[in-house]
Amino acid sequence: MDAYRAIISKRDTRHFLPDPLPGDVLTRVLQAGRMAGSSKNSQPVRMVVVESAEGRARLATCGDYAAHLEAAPAAVAVVLLPGGSGFDAGRAAQNLMVAAWAMGVASCPVAMHRQECARAALGIPEECTVAMVIALGYPDLKHPLSQGRQRLPLDELVSWEQWGNHRPAGV
Ligand SMILES: Cc1cc2nc3c(=O)[nH]c(=O)nc-3n(C[C@H](O)[C@H](O)[C@H](O)COP(=O)(O)O)c2cc1C
Repeated sequence: MDAYRAIISKRDTRHFLPDPLPGDVLTRVLQAGRMAGSSKNSQPVRMVVVESAEGRARLATCGDYAAHLEAAPAAVAVVLLPGGSGFDAGRAAQNLMVAAWAMGVASCPVAMHRQECARAALGIPEECTVAMVIALGYPDLKHPLSQGRQRLPLDELVSWEQWGNHRPAGV
């Protein structure tokens, strides 16, 4: 799968097979997260891998829409050090999800609405933020890959030269 195909076909998947991710696959996923650029190369992102069922179940209690963390064989928490921005975390998270998908590994970002809960579950210091937890695993194809939500059309999404100046895509 080339990069463009991986990006445009990636969907946020909540149903997984129980099979664990092979070590080399997980390493490549983490490398993809590591290689994301950051402001002034400040590298404020850290990742915590949680494979244990107990660890994932505990994390699942920290978000309002996090139940599928229990079904995923692995979760990667994307953690921000003080001063890091959401954009830094987002670059790392999207990198690792797209790299995973290129290897057939599906994923879904999961917000941690209760930060204290997530920090305690992961044992991370108070000054850090759990920007997102990424559920990872091979998709259970008995279920749709995603909830089927649509994207805005390109010509509605994009302005040319000035805000609101739309033109048909491809023209
Ligand atoms: C910032 C952010 C937070 C999200 N939090 C959750 C979440 O807590 N639980 C969940 O199931 N999905 C979560 N998602 C996934 C979105 O619901 C998903 O990206 C959107 O519905 C599009 O899905 P699709 O790519 O499968 O069409 C989150 C996505 C983003 C970007």
